[in-house]
Parts: sequence; structure tokens; C-alpha cells
Amino acid sequence: MLVTGATGRVGFPIARELARDHEVFGLARCRNEGDEARLRDHGITPLVADLGELDPATQLPDGLTHVFHAGAALHQEARANWQRTFRINAEQSGRLVAACATDGFEGFVYCSTGSAYEYQGARPLREDDPPGVHLGTYSLSKIAGEAVVRFAAVEHGVPVTIIKIFSTYGPEGGAPADRFDRIVAGKEIRLHPDAPNRYNPIYEDDYVRHGIRALEVADVPPVVVNWCGSETVSAEDYCAYLGELVGIEPRIVYDPEAPWPIWPDPTHMHEVLGRTQVPWRDGMRRMAEARHPEAVKGTDSAKGPS
Ligand SMILES: NC(=O)c1ccc[n+]([C@@H]2O[C@H](COP(=O)([O-])OP(=O)(O)OC[C@H]3O[C@@H](n4cnc5c(N)ncnc54)[C@H](OP(=O)(O)O)[C@@H]3O)[C@@H](O)[C@H]2O)c1
Repeated sequence: MLVTGATGRVGFPIARELARDHEVFGLARCRNEGDEARLRDHGITPLVADLGELDPATQLPDGLTHVFHAGAALHQEARANWQRTFRINAEQSGRLVAACATDGFEGFVYCSTGSAYEYQGARPLREDDPPGVHLGTYSLSKIAGEAVVRFAAVEHGVPVTIIKIFSTYGPEGGAPADRFDRIVAGKEIRLHPDAPNRYNPIYEDDYVRHGIRALEVADVPPVVVNWCGSETVSAEDYCAYLGELVGIEPRIVYDPEAPWPIWPDPTHMHEVLGRTQVPWRDGMRRMAEARHPEAVKGTDSAKGPS
């Protein structure tokens, strides 16, 4: 099995879980000190490579049965060079799928995003809603990536699931964790004026389960499915709860320039992947305790030395 983006927020916990029972290769540039050791510590074999330069036809390990493709140009890197972003997020994703047209290959997951939908106002986004540009070049490259991956899957007969990821969170981070960091630091939270800003955040335990399930249900033509929590909660409500945990009132500022809320419809996900299990308050508390144990009221670290 191969997980790309294996050091990242989504890829790492999934690679770690798969490596309990399977041989797993973890691809990333491993830019941070300790990345390779962290993979090895969890039984994952590092494959240090740049997705922009990789030749999937010749450089992938032999005998792969599954690929979870989470590696991508994101954030500042995605904005810095749009041609490279399209190469990594779209063209190379198609080459990876094509390279999996081998005997015994069972499932490929392409990580797309809820940021590839056009805003529909205050209603949940369905898989047949039109594409749109939520986050500039990044969104455009993922829309292109879905098309290239779909073409390669059908052309080469490779079973694929395209997951449209909405707001993961947990000890590894995610948008709710970024907002929590700002609450703890006393910084303002910027939200879109179309309040409440509804989301369905998905906690680590659930996204690991749903990631593995997505590998199992892959098909030709690809299964396309939102990947999110089953519960809807507004950023206003979860920030208020996170604020209560640390005794700080969040400072929310409404800004028309803030990205619009991406609110998924989980109906199709419930049919193909099932429901998620972690209630949002439990997930938020666990995330808060993992990231700022010193600040969360009621934890041993927050009580100070006894
Ligand atoms: N987390 C979310 O809420 C969310 C939402 C929507 C979509 N997604 C999608 O989910 C996937 C994973 O996102 P994430 O949140 O886990 O991102 P992340 O934490 O930033 O991780 C990105 C991973 O990709 C690797 N990577 C980046 N550029 C690379 C390159 N040129 N060559 C090889 N590896 C590269 C990174 O390692 P190195 O930097 O060491 O190479 C890292 O392992 C992405 O495809 C993203 O578009 C995530």
C-alpha cells in the first residue's frame, strides 16, 4: 500500500492505521526534521520524493494494491506557482492512477476538496453541485485533478474513489485547530458574513475509518463522495465551546473577504461510507486537550504542579 502526503494531517493517521496490518510506503518530501523517523516509528517505509518530479510509471514500489493519494500543493505553495500546482494536483495525480493499472490493484483514493464547489448560499453542498473557486489556484487545480483522475481511471480501468474533503480536525490540526490556536492566543477569528458559518468537521478517528473504507469501495468509473462529519455545527458554536474550555471569549469578526462556509450534504456519504461516530463536542475537547493541555480547564496540565 502507498499513502502519499504521509507526513500530513490526513495522510499520517491513515498510514499509521494501515501499517498495523499491512506493508505501507509513505511518500513525502519529508521537509521537517524527524519526518522519516516518525514514519519508521509507526512501521511505515518512507519514500522520500517530490510529487512534482516523480515518474510514477517507474518509481512506485512493485505490487501495490491500494494508494491513498493525499499529497498535494497546498496553502502558500499552491499560490506561489500555479503551473507547478496544476502539475502536482492534477497531471501527476492522473499519472499515479495510470501507474496503478496493474494486476491485483484494488483501490485508489484521490483527495479532492469541498473547496472545489461553487457557493450555493445557506444550503448543504451535494456531489452534483457545480464546481467553483473557494481558494483560488488550489480550488482550480483540484477541479482539474478530479477530471484528470476520472479520465485516467476509466481509460486504464483503475478503481478510484474521489473524496471531497471538508474540514478535518484532531491532534494533527485542521481548520478548527487553527481557530482554537487563535482563541488561545487572544486573536480574532475571521468568518464570512453569511452567519451562521455551517460546517461538518470530521474528527481523526472518523476520517481514518472513512479513509480506509474509501479505499475499499473504489470503482470504475470513480465513486465521488463528500467526506465530512455526519453532524453540522457552525464555526460560531464550536468556537464558543472551545472558548468555554479555556475560559476565553472568542472574538469573531465578520469579513466579506473571508472564505465562504463549506457545508456538505452527507447523504451520499452515509450510503457508501457510513455515518461518522465522534460527536462534535467530544472531538473538539479531545483536539483541545491534545493541542493545548496547559490551557484546557479540568485537565491535569492546566491545574499546574501539585
Ligand atoms: N485537512 C483538510 O481539512 C483538507 C480539506 C480539503 C482537502 N484536503 C486534501 O487532503 C489532502 C491532505 O491534506 P492535509 O490537510 O493532510 O495537508 P498537509 O497536512 O499540508 O499535508 C500535505 C502532505 O503532502 C506532502 N507534500 C506536499 N507537497 C509535496 C510534494 N511536492 N511532493 C511530495 N509530497 C508533498 C507533505 O509533506 P512534505 O511537505 O514533507 O513533502 C505532507 O505530507 C490534500 O490533497 C488536500 O488537498 C484536506
